[in-house]
Amino acid sequence: MRLSLASVFALAGGALAQTTSVTSYIASESPIAKAGVLANIGADGSLSSGAYSGIVIASPSTVNPNYLYTWTRDSSLTFMELINQYIYGEDDTLRTLIDEFVSAEATLQQVTNPSGTVSTGGLGEPKFNINETAFTGPWGRPQRDGPALRATAIMAYATYLYENGNTSYVTDTLWPIIELDLGYVAEYWNESTFDLWEEIDSSSFFTTAVQHRALRAGVTFANLIGETSDVSNYQENADDLLCFLQSYWNPTGSYVTANTGGGRSGKDANTLLASIHTFDPDAGCNATTFQPCSDKALSNHKVYVDSFRSLYAINDDISSDAAVATGRYPEDVYYNGNPWYLCTLAAAEQLYDSLIVWKAQGYIEVTSLSLAFFQQFDASVSAGTYDSSSDTYTTLLDAVQTYADGFVLMVAQYTPANGSLSEQYAKADGSPTSAYDLTWSFAAALTAFAARDGKTYGSWGAADLSSTCSGSTDTVAVTFEVQYDTQYGENLYITGSVSQLEDWSADDALIMSSADYPTWSITVDLPPSTLIQYKYLTKYNGDVTWEDDPNNEITTPASGSYTQVDSWH
Ligand SMILES: *[C@@H]1O[C@H](CO)[C@@H](O)[C@H](O)[C@H]1NC(C)=O
Ligand SMILES: *[C@@H]1O[C@H](CO)[C@@H](O)[C@H](O)[C@H]1NC(C)=O
Ligand SMILES: *[C@@H]1O[C@H](CO)[C@@H](O)[C@H](O)[C@H]1NC(C)=O
Ligand SMILES: *[C@@H]1O[C@H](CO)[C@@H](O)[C@H](O)[C@H]1NC(C)=O
Ligand SMILES: *[C@@H]1O[C@H](CO)[C@@H](O)[C@H](O)[C@H]1NC(C)=O
Repeated sequence: MRLSLASVFALAGGALAQTTSVTSYIASESPIAKAGVLANIGADGSLSSGAYSGIVIASPSTVNPNYLYTWTRDSSLTFMELINQYIYGEDDTLRTLIDEFVSAEATLQQVTNPSGTVSTGGLGEPKFNINETAFTGPWGRPQRDGPALRATAIMAYATYLYENGNTSYVTDTLWPIIELDLGYVAEYWNESTFDLWEEIDSSSFFTTAVQHRALRAGVTFANLIGETSDVSNYQENADDLLCFLQSYWNPTGSYVTANTGGGRSGKDANTLLASIHTFDPDAGCNATTFQPCSDKALSNHKVYVDSFRSLYAINDDISSDAAVATGRYPEDVYYNGNPWYLCTLAAAEQLYDSLIVWKAQGYIEVTSLSLAFFQQFDASVSAGTYDSSSDTYTTLLDAVQTYADGFVLMVAQYTPANGSLSEQYAKADGSPTSAYDLTWSFAAALTAFAARDGKTYGSWGAADLSSTCSGSTDTVAVTFEVQYDTQYGENLYITGSVSQLEDWSADDALIMSSADYPTWSITVDLPPSTLIQYKYLTKYNGDVTWEDDPNNEITTPASGSYTQVDSWH
């Protein structure tokens, strides 16, 4: 028998016994998570004795495992949240700590380490001793996400200071730090890297995604402060990164493959973390940058979550439309492979980000790619665009909110009474395991809670990027023809599985010509020798009607042109 959460808490007793809902969990856990982060920052953090000023320790744990080091990734993700709290006026007391963080990172940049010197690749070193000396033991190095995440965090702070008139500190002190990291990203992004879990040496989606964001933000920031000499370098590499980012999509499995190497399924929290840490509220549900509510990211969310449903005993008997405990990736064997708090929270945060966008734009678009995600909640839903006045919109919005809250309640259920968040919770019984008081777990709670609150922290420009990828510039001209009797004001459109067909977007589907009515036609330049899926749809007074399943399919010819004649089904 499965106990309800309420009865679990009632049986468990303790401080959390009364907190049976997600709002009361968040109310109690928020201050604990914030205090947990601050306790792990030197020099004055209560659990970080020995850490120099501004140094973020990963965890106070010194044995099984020893995490008393500082990682550039964890520190930067943590300070991104603290910087957002500061610049959006949520906590004015953080200024000194942020300045200390920036100084500490500037020092670490200059420390020669096993990855190199500051000018020969040393910025990719993943972790340092907490007294700002190099860690020289064997490790998975380099990890090329660190400089990107650090630059992104410091640019957010620097933009705020610059816009508030503190220009000389920005140009004299912050820009040199930022410029080193952006230069590193531009120079090294196309070389192999260890992934964020420090295990696989290949290319990694999270790393590529945050590198892309950093260079885009770098263009905007450098232009803002008038340091334009590197702008075209950032721009060109960002364009290439965006094209490379597309290559991680697995069209057969309908998910994002986390790493190009490693021999695993590629289903990995890496990809959800990428979506939430490159969320741009102005970019809507755009799939090019894998925005949290994009059809690709939602399809990926389902594939990721489903891979844990039968993997952990604590997920037994949970219905297939409800949240479960999730970890890094299903093949994980570290500490025997358990759910991680920060991964389960990321599953919630992606959906909270999605809710923010759907509410702002006033509609939910279901494409054939995101259909499986939405059908978890309503088997009868079909592809289409659902306006906020429709019942389907309300049903889906409520269902996703409940689903997202379910992931937070999973974390709540397995948070000990004192609110401490370790790295992992055991797959057998949910008890906290591995490093205790993990800084990143606390930071992940803070960002997920903020997203649930509808908080957003600005755009990085994902809404308006060039989407042409250089490389294979050859195309073939394919003419699509279909007969269809329309009523006055009704038009026929086409969309499909490639960017030239607008990636299954009903909104941006290509309008066809009715010059030879009732034959509708359009000629599109498509990649050669490529299997492409597509559908026709009609729009009439704002209502979208799709062809029934299955999708149409063609393999484009190797060269020349081609006419494809279809009948509507
Ligand atoms: C810094 O910390 C490391 C690791 O704990 C230690 O081996 C080293 O002696 C320390 N160096 C200084 C200068 O304190
Ligand atoms: C600019 O910001 C820095 C960092 O907080 C601070 O030390 C400095 O006093 C500020 N300068 C001015 C003019 O506000
Ligand atoms: C370098 O970029 C090319 C083109 O996007 C890509 O095919 C290749 O996999 C990349 N290699 C690495 C290690 O990033
Ligand atoms: C919180 O509770 C956990 C599990 O009961 C325990 O391991 C940990 O030491 C506690 N932390 C604090 C700060 O009391
Ligand atoms: C998605 O973003 C890309 C890059 O900014 C852009 O080229 C494309 O037009 C966008 N698509 C939609 C549907 O907004």
